[in-house]
Parts: sequence; C-alpha cells; structure tokens
Amino acid sequence: MLTSLPQGHGLDVAALRRATPALPGVVHFNSAGSGLLPDEVATALQDHLARELRSDSSAAALDVAADIEDAREEAARLIGATPSEIAFTTGNADGWNAALAALPALRPGDRVLVSSGEWGGNVLTLAQECARVGARLERIPELADGRMDVSGLSQMIDARLRLIAVTWIGAHLGHAAPVETVGRLARAHGIPYFVDAAQAAGVLPVDVARIGCDVLTFPGRKSLRGPKGTGILYVREGILDGLRPFALNLHAASAVTGGIVLRSDAGRLEAAEFSPGLRLGLGAALALANRLGAEAIRERVLERSAALRAALSQIPGLVLREEGPPESHITTFHHPALCPTKIQHALAQRDILIKAMPAQVAPYAGFGTPGRAVCRASVSYLTEDEEIARLAEVLTGILVEAPAG
Ligand SMILES: Cc1ncc(COP(=O)(O)O)c(C=O)c1O
Repeated sequence: MLTSLPQGHGLDVAALRRATPALPGVVHFNSAGSGLLPDEVATALQDHLARELRSDSSAAALDVAADIEDAREEAARLIGATPSEIAFTTGNADGWNAALAALPALRPGDRVLVSSGEWGGNVLTLAQECARVGARLERIPELADGRMDVSGLSQMIDARLRLIAVTWIGAHLGHAAPVETVGRLARAHGIPYFVDAAQAAGVLPVDVARIGCDVLTFPGRKSLRGPKGTGILYVREGILDGLRPFALNLHAASAVTGGIVLRSDAGRLEAAEFSPGLRLGLGAALALANRLGAEAIRERVLERSAALRAALSQIPGLVLREEGPPESHITTFHHPALCPTKIQHALAQRDILIKAMPAQVAPYAGFGTPGRAVCRASVSYLTEDEEIARLAEVLTGILVEAPAG
C-alpha cells in the first residue's frame, strides 16, 4: 500500500509501480482499454469478498454502506461536483444511456448533434432513437486534422436542436475536444449537453462547472485504474428534477398513495442491485487519483505521450496520426505492411499490450484512414522510458519481418 504521495509536484512513479501487481510482468500501453489495478483497489476487492464469505452478501453490504458513500464523495471531488449529482453505474455506456433515456423524449423533426469522434455505442443508440421517432442525427463538422470545427458547430444551432453530445477524447485518436467552448454554446442556447469522458477521466483535470455540461460519464476501469464493471454518471443538479428514468426500482423511487416519488438526487438513475465490492474498489481508485492530483497526472501523462511519439516516429514506414503537442494518453498509428490486429497480436506474444481499434469505435470520424482500423498505444503515469524503448524495438523488428505491400 502506498503512503507517501505525491512528492513535490511530481509523482513517485517507482513507488506507484511497486504498488501495481501486474508490473513489471507486462509492458502496458493499453490504459485507454483497461488500466492496471493498484494494490489499494485489489485490497478493497479482496477485503469485501472476505466480508461476504464470513456472512451473507446483504449483511456485508450494510457494513460498507458508509464507505460506498465515501466513494461517491471521491467521485464528486474528482470532477468538481456534489455527491448528490453522482450516480454509480456499471460502465460508461450504462450511465450515458440511462441519462439519455431519462431526458424528455425526442419528437419528429428534432435534431441531435454529435462530435465526429463520438463513441460508436453512443452513435448507435442515438441513431436508433432518432430513426424511431423521426428526429435527425447530425455530425459536428471536423477540421482536416480531425479536430472539431467549432465555428461549424455554432452555425448548426437552431430551435430544433435537443441535444449536443461530445466525446472528449475519442477511442480512435488522441485529440481532446474543446469541451468548455461547446459548453458555453450549449448553455447560451439552453441545449442539454452530454460529455463522454470515458478516456478523459484519470488523464485530464475534470471540472463539470467549467465544462458547463449537464451529463458527464466515465468508467472506472481505464486511466482511473478501477475495477471492470464500474462507472460514474454525473448529472447537473439543475436538470435532475426533469429526468424521468425509463425503469424505476425501490432505490430510485417509492410508491405513495396516489403516485410515485422519485429520489431528488442522481440516485434516481441508479440500479437497486449492485456489487458493493466493485464500488469499494472504484472508491479506492478514485481516492488514489484525488491523492495524486489531476494536474500532476496530466503533466506526467502528456510528457509520457510525447516520449512515446518521439520513439515511434523513428520507426521506418510507421504512420503516426496525431500532430502537435500531445493532448492525451492516446497515440494512434498504422503501417502499410501489417494490419493493426496482427501488430497487436505479435506484440502481445512478447507481453506488450497495445490495442487495434476498429473503425466502429468512432463511426463518424472522417480524419486519416476513415473506415479502417488503427493501432492505439496509450500511456499512463506509470509508463517508463525502458517500456517505450522496448515497444519501439519490438515493433521495429515485427515490421521489418513483415512482407512488403
Ligand atoms: C470514448 C469511449 N466512450 C465509451 C466507451 C464505452 O465504455 P463502456 O464499455 O464502459 O461502456 C469507451 C470504451 O472504450 C470509450 O473509449
């Protein structure tokens, strides 16, 4: 367990690595898929399993009810919200979909705008709903380098617009969307604004008031290093009252003579049944992120991204897609001789983890290689120079051996 962090403005990376059971066994460039669990998360999960084995799971849940509320407070602290605006979920899509389903229904002729890097699941959900009711789903225009064209967005705002949804950092490209600029536009026109922060949380500082969003979602398992099957849904207090969840349960609402009373907080969007161990594990991950500090994490991650890109840029034939100073933990690339899935598998055989990203993860993205998969290598604050050198060396070897063409 870690006790002495952070040191000065930096992070004690050696201590953080020692407190990460998977290291040094794996060379990890997949924090955008799943982060490596730290000791404190493992301990929280194991302790709760032990509690459940000593009694029954409901009694064990009661014992940790206050600790779960502490986890909610850690989530609120991480993003500048209040605990009553935080709902626990089972992942990013779970919260995003629950919030969407609770908004006033779309009607024929309504419009919905999504970022070009919008997560594929969000696009599918919206496309189905728009088709069902006769609403229009439209893409915010992008610039030549894949970044959002904000002036194009402002021209698309009219009285029929019912929702703006932006994925802050796409799963497919390491650029960060201008979420605060979009927020100012959304607020000025009173349009509900959803931010998918699945990739941003645990990498960039998040302040929901500065962003001006109504809804923001993230899972626990990525850069926050929490357990799989966890997530957070933030709902701005000002819109909570108007949200009508599609499905209710005895945690979200109660039946009274003559009607139904919904909880006044974000718990109205929560499931009644959940795994306390997972929420405690998430709480430990959130507490670690808060302890390390969002600025210190951001600084280290962006510096690591720059180091990775410098190393990858030396590999002959490798096409790096991001340009300019890094904005996130994600770097994407491709090579004419070998498809991304083959590159992923060849690296995995040497215990180096990256991820091949199919085009469906961001189906509206137009930049670079539309319709084609890319390789995604994502750093974390744990990433060391030796790991970057090893990835570059092994990747070079794999590509040299690949058949030409
Ligand atoms: C940007 C983005 N949004 C949403 C998701 C979906 O997250 P979940 O699987 O937790 O629902 C992902 C998953 O990789 C993602 O990268």
